Amino acid sequence: MKRKSIYTLASIWLGCLLVLFSGCATIPTEYITSNEIAIIPQPQKMVVGDGQFNISAKAGISYNDAELVDCAEFLAEYVNVSNKNISSKFNPEADIVLKVNEQNDQYLGDEGYTLKISKDQVVINANSVAGVFYGVQTIRQMLPISIEQKDGIDVRAALKCVEIMDQPRYGWRGFMLDESRHFFGQEQVEKTLDMMALYKMNRFHWHLTDMNGWRIEIKKYPKLTEVGGKGDWTSGENAGGFYTQEQIKQVVEFARKRNIVIIPEIDMPGHATAANKAYPEFSGGGTDRHPEFTFNIGKEETYSYLSDILKETTELFPGPWIHFGGDEVHFANKQWKDIPEIQELMEKENLKTLYEVETYFNRRMAGVIDSLGKTTAGWDEVVDAGLDPEKTVVMWWRHNMPTQLAKALDKDFKVVLCPRIPCYFDFVQHKTHKMGRTWSGFGSLEGVYQFPDMPESYKVKDSEQIMGIQACLWTERVHNLERFDYMVYPRLSALAESCWTNQANKDWDNYQQRLKSHIQLYDVLGIGYFDAFDPEKTPEPMWPIQK
Ligand code: ACM
Repeated sequence: MKRKSIYTLASIWLGCLLVLFSGCATIPTEYITSNEIAIIPQPQKMVVGDGQFNISAKAGISYNDAELVDCAEFLAEYVNVSNKNISSKFNPEADIVLKVNEQNDQYLGDEGYTLKISKDQVVINANSVAGVFYGVQTIRQMLPISIEQKDGIDVRAALKCVEIMDQPRYGWRGFMLDESRHFFGQEQVEKTLDMMALYKMNRFHWHLTDMNGWRIEIKKYPKLTEVGGKGDWTSGENAGGFYTQEQIKQVVEFARKRNIVIIPEIDMPGHATAANKAYPEFSGGGTDRHPEFTFNIGKEETYSYLSDILKETTELFPGPWIHFGGDEVHFANKQWKDIPEIQELMEKENLKTLYEVETYFNRRMAGVIDSLGKTTAGWDEVVDAGLDPEKTVVMWWRHNMPTQLAKALDKDFKVVLCPRIPCYFDFVQHKTHKMGRTWSGFGSLEGVYQFPDMPESYKVKDSEQIMGIQACLWTERVHNLERFDYMVYPRLSALAESCWTNQANKDWDNYQQRLKSHIQLYDVLGIGYFDAFDPEKTPEPMWPIQK
């Protein structure tokens, strides 16, 4: 009797399983599309067709150039198909085709792409791996947001049929992060790089040294991080932190896969406090407000020391640019007058003023960067230093000095636009906000979006010399990840559109509609943000200390 009941139970289970399996076989897969196409930055040309391409679990991905493997793997991950579906043996009939042109298509330039989605096939075509990568990011944004949740749901994504022809307005689409004032670490940096990639941004300027912390390991001078890496702007007693060379290599590789070039900044001859804490023998003093702010640029040993640092830095970053700061030296260089080595240098080189000493230093260090095979980048103070415009990129940041931009252009420098208003993301973004900088204005979402076409207080003339635009997150008052996200999102998306989309194709009302979908994406990805549509919903995370 007992035995019989076991058999009965077993056969009931078997029956249930059979019903379940046969049920699965007959229920068609459900494919979902996103409700609307909400791509940021807005593509230059887009025609929406009828129907959709269903991305089955069996969809094959094929590519024609070995360097496209990362693009294929990203795509497989985004659309939830196995890497086993990827084939490097090129098949133009595959479900999803990634293709670098053998002959350049003039319209597409270096980073443009076409994306054709029909009911039967998806084809991305570009002149470069970067272009294909941006086509893949466009697909990522066309997917229903629930796919990003990756929570085991068994619905599959579909893409609306569309034809897109796209290419960026600017080649430099940048974001700068100051990790000296507060240190955020590898995970946050990589998360930011991934969001930059989603928004087709391609330059990460990493401000690694300044007054409150030295964040890059230099093997020849270990105290830079052992001593100079401690503390942050909130307190010198805080742990602070730094990146080992190994970690930097990992971040560089993470960025490379996303077509992002990293520009490291070693700030000199000012903003050197953390370095001077570690190696006081190279300090050129400062003021009460900014103690030990400068290097002693009269000493020959200082040039060897900084050249060694730049050499190790160069070896870590394969991109073409090294940023050497050059900003705000006049803040705290008065002690230079009293330093015998600086007096001797002035005598020897016939330098009449401290400013001439500073420009002498800039020229020498730019020469070092050149000898290391890199191009110098510097803040807009360096415009007057007599540097070679062919070998220098200038970042125009002093929005209250448009003459500095005009001068840079007149002197034939290549320029990146990052005026404090609207590009400094430590400025507040709403009139009710209290934490963060305000001057005669602030960095509203609309201000960022309209830049550089409708700047409120200055006119940026169109010029081939303008390489692009960059946002800068200075972090004196950004002490945690919550404030980090709040200051960056959604302004990063507005900046991305300013960088990528031609003025004729920008539309503030339409952007705001698309942004609503992106805010849902931020929720899914666990990214904090300021809700520009409902400011009270996301109150400003306060910075706890008054200084
Ligand atoms: C700067 O904001 N000191 C470049």
